[in-house]
Amino acid sequence: MAEFLDVPNETIFTMETTPLKFGPGATSEVGDDLQRLGVRRPLLITDRGLMRTGLADRVCRVLREADLAADLYDEVHVEPTDVSWEAISEYVQGRDYDGFVALGGGSAIDSAKAANLFTTYPAQLTDYLNKPIGQGLPVPGPLKPLIAIPTTAGTGSETTAVAVLDILSLHVKTGISHRNLRPSLAVVDPLNTVTLPPMATAYPGFDVLTHALESFTSRPYDARPRHRPDERPVYVGRNPVSDLWCEKALEYLGRSLRRAVLNGYDIAARTDLALAATYAGIGFGNAGVHVPHALAYPIAGQVRAFVPPDYPPDQPLIPHGLSVISTAPATFRWTFPTSPERHIRAAQLLGANVSSLTDADAREVLPRTLLSLMRDTGIPNGLGALGFGEADVRSIVDGALKQQRLLVCCPRDVEAPQLEEIVRASMEHWA
Ligand SMILES: [Fe+2]
Repeated sequence: MAEFLDVPNETIFTMETTPLKFGPGATSEVGDDLQRLGVRRPLLITDRGLMRTGLADRVCRVLREADLAADLYDEVHVEPTDVSWEAISEYVQGRDYDGFVALGGGSAIDSAKAANLFTTYPAQLTDYLNKPIGQGLPVPGPLKPLIAIPTTAGTGSETTAVAVLDILSLHVKTGISHRNLRPSLAVVDPLNTVTLPPMATAYPGFDVLTHALESFTSRPYDARPRHRPDERPVYVGRNPVSDLWCEKALEYLGRSLRRAVLNGYDIAARTDLALAATYAGIGFGNAGVHVPHALAYPIAGQVRAFVPPDYPPDQPLIPHGLSVISTAPATFRWTFPTSPERHIRAAQLLGANVSSLTDADAREVLPRTLLSLMRDTGIPNGLGALGFGEADVRSIVDGALKQQRLLVCCPRDVEAPQLEEIVRASMEHWA
Protein backbone atom coordinates (compact mmCIF):
# COMPACT_ATOMS: atom_id res chain seq x y z
CA MET A 1 0.00 0.00 0.00
CA ALA A 2 2.67 2.49 1.05
CA GLU A 3 4.39 2.24 -2.30
CA PHE A 4 1.23 3.47 -4.06
CA LEU A 5 0.70 6.48 -1.84
CA ASP A 6 3.47 8.97 -1.55
CA VAL A 7 2.40 10.48 1.78
CA PRO A 8 3.14 9.33 5.33
CA ASN A 9 -0.43 10.18 6.41
CA GLU A 10 -3.16 7.75 7.40
CA THR A 11 -5.72 7.30 4.65
CA ILE A 12 -8.07 4.83 6.35
CA PHE A 13 -10.55 5.17 9.20
CA THR A 14 -12.57 2.49 10.96
CA MET A 15 -16.04 2.49 12.51
CA GLU A 16 -16.96 -0.23 14.98
CA THR A 17 -19.70 -0.36 17.58
CA THR A 18 -21.79 -2.60 19.77
CA PRO A 19 -25.17 -3.82 18.47
CA LEU A 20 -27.89 -1.73 20.11
CA LYS A 21 -31.37 -2.37 21.49
CA PHE A 22 -32.96 0.94 22.48
CA GLY A 23 -36.23 2.05 24.02
CA PRO A 24 -38.42 2.27 27.12
CA GLY A 25 -38.93 -1.29 28.38
CA ALA A 26 -35.96 -2.82 26.52
CA THR A 27 -34.63 -4.16 29.85
CA SER A 28 -37.53 -6.62 30.05
CA GLU A 29 -36.19 -8.45 26.95
CA VAL A 30 -32.71 -9.16 28.30
CA GLY A 31 -33.53 -12.84 28.99
CA ASP A 32 -34.32 -13.38 25.31
CA ASP A 33 -31.16 -11.52 24.35
CA LEU A 34 -29.02 -13.79 26.54
CA GLN A 35 -30.64 -16.92 25.13
CA ARG A 36 -30.03 -15.71 21.59
CA LEU A 37 -26.34 -15.26 22.49
CA GLY A 38 -26.26 -18.85 23.79
CA VAL A 39 -25.84 -17.88 27.46
CA ARG A 40 -27.32 -20.24 30.08
CA ARG A 41 -25.48 -19.31 33.25
CA PRO A 42 -24.89 -15.55 33.41
CA LEU A 43 -23.50 -13.39 36.20
CA LEU A 44 -25.34 -10.10 36.79
CA ILE A 45 -22.80 -7.45 37.81
CA THR A 46 -24.10 -4.33 39.56
CA ASP A 47 -23.60 -2.08 42.59
CA ARG A 48 -25.29 -1.61 45.96
CA GLY A 49 -27.01 1.59 44.86
CA LEU A 50 -28.93 -0.27 42.16
CA MET A 51 -29.83 -2.99 44.66
CA ARG A 52 -31.45 -0.30 46.82
CA THR A 53 -33.50 1.09 43.91
CA GLY A 54 -34.92 -2.37 43.19
CA LEU A 55 -33.77 -2.30 39.56
CA ALA A 56 -31.26 -5.13 40.05
CA ASP A 57 -34.03 -7.29 41.56
CA ARG A 58 -36.25 -6.62 38.57
CA VAL A 59 -33.48 -7.71 36.19
CA CYS A 60 -32.91 -10.87 38.30
CA ARG A 61 -36.60 -11.65 37.94
CA VAL A 62 -36.42 -11.20 34.15
CA LEU A 63 -33.47 -13.64 34.04
CA ARG A 64 -35.27 -16.22 36.21
CA GLU A 65 -38.40 -16.00 34.04
CA ALA A 66 -36.19 -16.86 31.05
CA ASP A 67 -35.01 -20.01 32.93
CA LEU A 68 -31.46 -18.72 33.24
CA ALA A 69 -29.37 -19.85 36.22
CA ALA A 70 -28.17 -16.35 37.04
CA ASP A 71 -25.94 -15.28 39.94
CA LEU A 72 -25.61 -11.77 41.30
CA TYR A 73 -22.47 -9.75 42.13
CA ASP A 74 -23.41 -6.42 43.72
CA GLU A 75 -20.06 -5.18 45.01
CA VAL A 76 -18.98 -3.03 42.08
CA HIS A 77 -16.90 -0.09 43.27
CA VAL A 78 -18.03 3.34 42.06
CA GLU A 79 -14.99 4.48 40.02
CA PRO A 80 -13.28 1.03 39.93
CA THR A 81 -9.74 0.44 41.14
CA ASP A 82 -7.06 -2.19 40.62
CA VAL A 83 -8.16 -3.65 43.97
CA SER A 84 -11.86 -3.81 43.02
CA TRP A 85 -11.04 -5.36 39.62
CA GLU A 86 -8.98 -8.01 41.34
CA ALA A 87 -11.85 -8.73 43.75
CA ILE A 88 -14.43 -9.23 41.02
CA SER A 89 -12.04 -11.31 38.89
CA GLU A 90 -11.31 -13.54 41.89
CA TYR A 91 -15.05 -13.94 42.49
CA VAL A 92 -15.69 -14.94 38.89
CA GLN A 93 -12.69 -17.26 38.51
CA GLY A 94 -13.68 -20.93 38.64
CA ARG A 95 -17.43 -20.34 38.84
CA ASP A 96 -18.19 -21.39 35.31
CA TYR A 97 -20.26 -18.47 34.03
CA ASP A 98 -20.83 -18.47 30.30
CA GLY A 99 -21.80 -14.81 29.99
CA PHE A 100 -22.26 -11.52 31.84
CA VAL A 101 -24.87 -8.81 32.28
CA ALA A 102 -23.58 -5.43 33.49
CA LEU A 103 -26.21 -3.20 35.06
CA GLY A 104 -25.07 0.28 36.08
CA GLY A 105 -22.96 3.21 34.99
CA GLY A 106 -19.50 3.02 33.49
CA SER A 107 -18.19 1.53 36.75
CA ALA A 108 -20.32 -1.62 36.48
CA ILE A 109 -19.83 -2.01 32.73
CA ASP A 110 -16.05 -1.52 32.92
CA SER A 111 -15.80 -3.93 35.87
CA ALA A 112 -17.71 -6.54 33.85
CA LYS A 113 -15.38 -6.03 30.87
CA ALA A 114 -12.41 -6.55 33.19
CA ALA A 115 -13.88 -9.64 34.89
CA ASN A 116 -14.65 -11.12 31.48
CA LEU A 117 -11.12 -10.43 30.22
CA PHE A 118 -9.12 -11.56 33.25
CA THR A 119 -11.07 -14.79 33.69
CA THR A 120 -11.09 -15.68 29.98
CA TYR A 121 -7.41 -14.85 29.38
CA PRO A 122 -5.77 -14.67 32.84
CA ALA A 123 -2.76 -12.36 33.04
CA GLN A 124 -1.16 -9.72 35.23
CA LEU A 125 -3.17 -6.49 35.26
CA THR A 126 -0.24 -4.54 33.84
CA ASP A 127 0.03 -6.85 30.82
CA TYR A 128 -3.14 -5.40 29.29
CA LEU A 129 -3.04 -1.86 30.71
CA ASN A 130 -2.36 0.95 28.26
CA LYS A 131 1.24 2.05 27.81
CA PRO A 132 3.25 3.57 29.45
CA ILE A 133 1.74 2.34 32.74
CA GLY A 134 1.21 -1.17 31.40
CA GLN A 135 2.46 -3.12 28.42
CA GLY A 136 -0.63 -2.65 26.26
CA LEU A 137 -0.70 -6.29 25.12
CA PRO A 138 -3.63 -7.09 22.80
CA VAL A 139 -6.58 -9.13 24.08
CA PRO A 140 -5.77 -12.58 22.64
CA GLY A 141 -9.23 -13.47 21.33
CA PRO A 142 -12.99 -13.06 21.68
CA LEU A 143 -14.47 -12.82 25.17
CA LYS A 144 -17.68 -14.35 26.55
CA PRO A 145 -20.98 -12.60 25.73
CA LEU A 146 -21.53 -9.42 27.76
CA ILE A 147 -24.79 -7.47 27.69
CA ALA A 148 -24.44 -3.92 29.02
CA ILE A 149 -27.50 -2.16 30.48
CA PRO A 150 -26.47 1.42 31.31
CA THR A 151 -28.41 3.11 34.11
CA THR A 152 -26.88 6.54 33.58
CA ALA A 153 -26.78 8.53 30.35
CA GLY A 154 -23.04 9.06 30.48
CA THR A 155 -19.91 7.09 29.77
CA GLY A 156 -21.09 5.32 26.62
CA SER A 157 -19.09 2.35 27.95
CA GLU A 158 -21.80 0.07 26.54
CA THR A 159 -20.60 0.91 23.03
CA THR A 160 -16.86 1.37 23.58
CA ALA A 161 -13.79 -0.84 23.57
CA VAL A 162 -12.33 0.74 26.69
CA ALA A 163 -12.38 -0.05 30.43
CA VAL A 164 -11.05 2.52 32.92
CA LEU A 165 -9.76 2.14 36.49
CA ASP A 166 -7.79 3.90 39.23
CA ILE A 167 -4.38 2.47 40.10
CA LEU A 168 -4.44 3.25 43.80
CA SER A 169 -0.72 3.08 44.48
CA LEU A 170 0.11 5.45 41.60
CA HIS A 171 -2.84 7.85 42.10
CA VAL A 172 -3.55 7.60 38.41
CA LYS A 173 -6.44 6.57 36.21
CA THR A 174 -5.71 4.46 33.18
CA GLY A 175 -7.37 1.62 31.34
CA ILE A 176 -7.43 -1.15 28.81
CA SER A 177 -8.33 -0.46 25.23
CA HIS A 178 -9.02 -3.24 22.74
CA ARG A 179 -11.85 -3.96 20.32
CA ASN A 180 -12.53 -7.39 21.92
CA LEU A 181 -13.64 -5.61 25.11
CA ARG A 182 -16.75 -4.23 23.37
CA PRO A 183 -19.95 -5.64 24.86
CA SER A 184 -21.93 -8.04 22.68
CA LEU A 185 -25.10 -5.97 23.04
CA ALA A 186 -26.08 -2.60 24.55
CA VAL A 187 -29.58 -2.52 26.01
CA VAL A 188 -30.36 1.18 26.47
CA ASP A 189 -33.63 1.80 28.31
CA PRO A 190 -34.36 5.46 29.19
CA LEU A 191 -36.75 4.31 31.94
CA ASN A 192 -33.72 3.06 33.89
CA THR A 193 -32.55 6.68 34.34
CA VAL A 194 -35.74 8.44 35.52
CA THR A 195 -34.98 8.07 39.24
CA LEU A 196 -31.44 9.46 39.03
CA PRO A 197 -31.14 12.57 41.22
CA PRO A 198 -30.13 15.89 39.60
CA MET A 199 -26.33 15.73 39.97
CA ALA A 200 -26.20 12.03 39.07
CA THR A 201 -27.84 13.19 35.85
CA ALA A 202 -25.75 16.34 35.33
CA TYR A 203 -22.25 14.88 35.79
CA PRO A 204 -22.74 11.96 33.36
CA GLY A 205 -24.49 14.40 31.00
CA PHE A 206 -21.36 16.53 30.88
CA ASP A 207 -19.29 13.42 30.23
CA VAL A 208 -21.47 12.83 27.15
CA LEU A 209 -21.04 16.46 26.15
CA THR A 210 -17.25 16.33 26.35
CA HIS A 211 -17.14 13.01 24.48
CA ALA A 212 -19.01 14.63 21.61
CA LEU A 213 -17.03 17.89 21.69
CA GLU A 214 -13.60 16.32 22.03
CA SER A 215 -14.28 13.85 19.22
CA PHE A 216 -15.79 16.52 16.99
CA THR A 217 -12.67 18.69 17.41
CA SER A 218 -10.07 15.89 17.51
CA ARG A 219 -7.18 15.65 15.09
CA PRO A 220 -8.56 14.29 11.78
CA TYR A 221 -7.71 10.68 10.98
CA ASP A 222 -5.91 11.75 7.78
CA ALA A 223 -3.75 14.32 9.60
CA ARG A 224 -2.10 11.56 11.63
CA PRO A 225 0.67 9.14 10.71
CA ARG A 226 -0.22 5.99 8.77
CA HIS A 227 -0.68 2.79 10.84
CA ARG A 228 -0.23 -0.84 9.92
CA PRO A 229 -3.61 -2.62 10.16
CA ASP A 230 -2.62 -4.53 13.31
CA GLU A 231 -1.32 -1.37 14.99
CA ARG A 232 -4.14 1.03 14.10
CA PRO A 233 -5.49 2.38 17.40
CA VAL A 234 -9.11 2.14 18.56
CA TYR A 235 -9.20 5.97 18.52
CA VAL A 236 -8.40 6.88 14.90
CA GLY A 237 -9.30 10.60 14.97
CA ARG A 238 -12.31 12.48 13.72
CA ASN A 239 -13.75 11.32 10.42
CA PRO A 240 -16.95 11.76 8.42
CA VAL A 241 -18.74 8.95 10.27
CA SER A 242 -17.80 9.98 13.82
CA ASP A 243 -18.91 13.54 12.98
CA LEU A 244 -22.45 12.33 12.28
CA TRP A 245 -22.80 10.74 15.71
CA CYS A 246 -21.20 13.66 17.56
CA GLU A 247 -23.31 16.34 15.87
CA LYS A 248 -26.54 14.54 16.69
CA ALA A 249 -25.44 14.00 20.30
CA LEU A 250 -24.73 17.73 20.68
CA GLU A 251 -28.15 18.63 19.29
CA TYR A 252 -29.95 16.34 21.76
CA LEU A 253 -27.86 17.61 24.69
CA GLY A 254 -28.52 21.22 23.73
CA ARG A 255 -32.25 20.76 23.91
CA SER A 256 -32.51 18.31 26.81
CA LEU A 257 -29.59 18.38 29.29
CA ARG A 258 -31.04 21.20 31.39
CA ARG A 259 -34.51 19.68 31.25
CA ALA A 260 -33.38 16.22 32.41
CA VAL A 261 -31.38 17.67 35.32
CA LEU A 262 -34.11 20.04 36.46
CA ASN A 263 -37.00 17.56 36.03
CA GLY A 264 -35.90 13.92 36.14
CA TYR A 265 -39.33 12.62 35.19
CA ASP A 266 -39.25 14.33 31.79
CA ILE A 267 -39.22 11.13 29.71
CA ALA A 268 -38.62 12.92 26.41
CA ALA A 269 -35.53 14.62 27.88
CA ARG A 270 -34.31 11.35 29.42
CA THR A 271 -34.72 9.65 26.04
CA ASP A 272 -32.72 12.41 24.34
CA LEU A 273 -29.95 12.05 26.91
CA ALA A 274 -29.86 8.26 26.58
CA LEU A 275 -29.62 8.59 22.80
CA ALA A 276 -26.98 11.32 23.12
CA ALA A 277 -24.87 9.10 25.41
CA THR A 278 -25.06 6.23 22.93
CA TYR A 279 -24.36 8.44 19.90
CA ALA A 280 -21.44 10.20 21.60
CA GLY A 281 -20.12 6.81 22.73
CA ILE A 282 -20.09 5.63 19.12
CA GLY A 283 -18.48 8.91 18.02
CA PHE A 284 -15.69 9.02 20.58
CA GLY A 285 -15.32 5.24 20.62
CA ASN A 286 -13.91 5.59 17.11
CA ALA A 287 -12.57 9.16 16.88
CA GLY A 288 -11.15 9.57 20.40
CA VAL A 289 -11.08 12.17 23.15
CA HIS A 290 -8.23 14.50 24.04
CA VAL A 291 -7.23 17.17 26.59
CA PRO A 292 -10.19 17.32 29.04
CA HIS A 293 -10.19 13.52 29.36
CA ALA A 294 -6.40 13.36 29.74
CA LEU A 295 -6.56 16.00 32.51
CA ALA A 296 -9.60 14.36 34.11
CA TYR A 297 -7.66 11.25 35.09
CA PRO A 298 -5.21 12.98 37.47
CA ILE A 299 -7.91 15.43 38.64
CA ALA A 300 -10.12 12.54 39.76
CA GLY A 301 -7.14 10.55 41.05
CA GLN A 302 -5.95 13.41 43.27
CA VAL A 303 -9.29 14.17 44.95
CA ARG A 304 -8.98 15.29 48.57
CA ALA A 305 -12.18 16.27 50.33
CA PHE A 306 -14.78 16.96 47.65
CA VAL A 307 -17.94 14.90 48.22
CA PRO A 308 -20.41 15.45 45.39
CA PRO A 309 -24.07 16.03 46.11
CA ASP A 310 -26.39 13.10 45.24
CA TYR A 311 -23.53 10.56 45.59
CA PRO A 312 -22.70 8.27 48.55
CA PRO A 313 -21.61 10.57 51.42
CA ASP A 314 -18.90 8.27 52.74
CA GLN A 315 -16.06 8.96 50.31
CA PRO A 316 -14.44 11.96 48.61
CA LEU A 317 -14.98 11.63 44.87
CA ILE A 318 -14.80 13.75 41.75
CA PRO A 319 -17.22 12.03 39.38
CA HIS A 320 -15.78 11.49 35.92
CA GLY A 321 -18.19 13.90 34.19
CA LEU A 322 -17.32 16.67 36.63
CA SER A 323 -13.59 16.18 36.18
CA VAL A 324 -13.86 16.34 32.37
CA ILE A 325 -16.13 19.38 32.12
CA SER A 326 -13.95 21.35 34.55
CA THR A 327 -11.26 21.98 31.95
CA ALA A 328 -13.45 21.94 28.83
CA PRO A 329 -14.15 25.70 28.46
CA ALA A 330 -10.43 26.58 28.62
CA THR A 331 -9.51 23.69 26.31
CA PHE A 332 -11.93 24.71 23.57
CA ARG A 333 -10.84 28.35 23.80
CA TRP A 334 -7.32 27.04 23.06
CA THR A 335 -8.26 24.56 20.30
CA PHE A 336 -10.48 27.14 18.52
CA PRO A 337 -7.89 28.15 15.84
CA THR A 338 -7.59 24.55 14.60
CA SER A 339 -11.17 24.58 13.29
CA PRO A 340 -13.16 27.75 14.08
CA GLU A 341 -16.12 26.50 12.06
CA ARG A 342 -16.40 23.31 14.14
CA HIS A 343 -16.28 25.19 17.43
CA ILE A 344 -18.97 27.59 16.24
CA ARG A 345 -21.07 24.73 14.84
CA ALA A 346 -20.83 22.86 18.18
CA ALA A 347 -22.02 25.95 20.07
CA GLN A 348 -24.90 26.32 17.62
CA LEU A 349 -25.94 22.69 18.08
CA LEU A 350 -25.91 23.29 21.84
CA GLY A 351 -28.36 26.15 21.38
CA ALA A 352 -26.19 29.29 20.98
CA ASN A 353 -27.14 32.07 18.61
CA VAL A 354 -24.16 32.27 16.25
CA SER A 355 -25.44 34.81 13.73
CA SER A 356 -23.30 37.95 13.24
CA LEU A 357 -20.44 36.95 15.56
CA THR A 358 -17.44 39.29 15.78
CA ASP A 359 -13.98 37.63 15.68
CA ALA A 360 -13.65 37.95 19.46
CA ASP A 361 -17.16 36.55 20.02
CA ALA A 362 -16.47 33.60 17.72
CA ARG A 363 -13.65 32.32 19.92
CA GLU A 364 -15.73 32.73 23.06
CA VAL A 365 -19.04 31.35 21.84
CA LEU A 366 -18.38 27.69 22.67
CA PRO A 367 -16.77 28.31 26.10
CA ARG A 368 -19.61 30.72 26.93
CA THR A 369 -22.26 28.18 25.88
CA LEU A 370 -20.63 25.52 28.07
CA LEU A 371 -20.41 27.85 31.07
CA SER A 372 -24.08 28.72 30.73
CA LEU A 373 -25.03 25.01 30.75
CA MET A 374 -22.72 24.42 33.73
CA ARG A 375 -24.14 27.28 35.80
CA ASP A 376 -27.73 26.27 35.06
CA THR A 377 -27.12 22.69 36.23
CA GLY A 378 -25.13 23.29 39.42
CA ILE A 379 -21.56 22.50 38.31
CA PRO A 380 -18.99 23.87 40.83
CA ASN A 381 -17.05 27.00 39.87
CA GLY A 382 -13.79 25.51 38.61
CA LEU A 383 -11.00 23.33 39.95
CA GLY A 384 -10.59 25.74 42.89
CA ALA A 385 -14.07 24.80 44.10
CA LEU A 386 -13.01 21.11 43.99
CA GLY A 387 -10.10 21.81 46.34
CA PHE A 388 -7.23 22.37 43.89
CA GLY A 389 -4.83 25.32 43.74
CA GLU A 390 -1.62 26.53 42.12
CA ALA A 391 0.40 23.92 44.05
CA ASP A 392 -1.48 21.13 42.22
CA VAL A 393 -0.93 22.35 38.66
CA ARG A 394 2.31 20.46 38.13
CA SER A 395 1.05 17.10 39.39
CA ILE A 396 -2.18 17.33 37.37
CA VAL A 397 -0.16 18.09 34.23
CA ASP A 398 2.31 15.28 34.95
CA GLY A 399 -0.61 12.87 35.28
CA ALA A 400 -2.16 14.07 32.02
CA LEU A 401 1.14 13.67 30.15
CA LYS A 402 0.95 9.93 30.91
CA GLN A 403 -2.24 9.79 28.76
CA GLN A 404 -0.43 9.96 25.42
CA ARG A 405 -3.04 7.64 23.89
CA LEU A 406 -5.51 10.51 24.34
CA LEU A 407 -3.19 13.45 23.74
CA VAL A 408 -2.34 12.21 20.22
CA CYS A 409 -6.00 12.97 19.41
CA CYS A 410 -5.54 16.65 20.36
CA PRO A 411 -5.84 18.85 17.27
CA ARG A 412 -2.83 21.00 18.40
CA ASP A 413 0.53 19.74 19.58
CA VAL A 414 0.30 19.72 23.34
CA GLU A 415 2.98 19.53 26.01
CA ALA A 416 3.37 20.61 29.61
CA PRO A 417 3.26 24.42 29.10
CA GLN A 418 -0.04 24.30 27.19
CA LEU A 419 -1.62 21.95 29.73
CA GLU A 420 -0.44 24.17 32.60
CA GLU A 421 -2.12 27.14 30.97
CA ILE A 422 -5.39 25.23 30.56
CA VAL A 423 -5.34 24.01 34.18
CA ARG A 424 -4.62 27.52 35.53
CA ALA A 425 -7.40 28.99 33.41
CA SER A 426 -9.80 26.35 34.82
CA MET A 427 -9.32 27.19 38.50
CA GLU A 428 -12.27 29.60 38.48
CA HIS A 429 -14.90 29.78 35.72
CA TRP A 430 -16.89 32.84 36.74
CA ALA A 431 -16.47 35.74 39.18
FE1 LIG B 1 -15.66 10.13 29.56
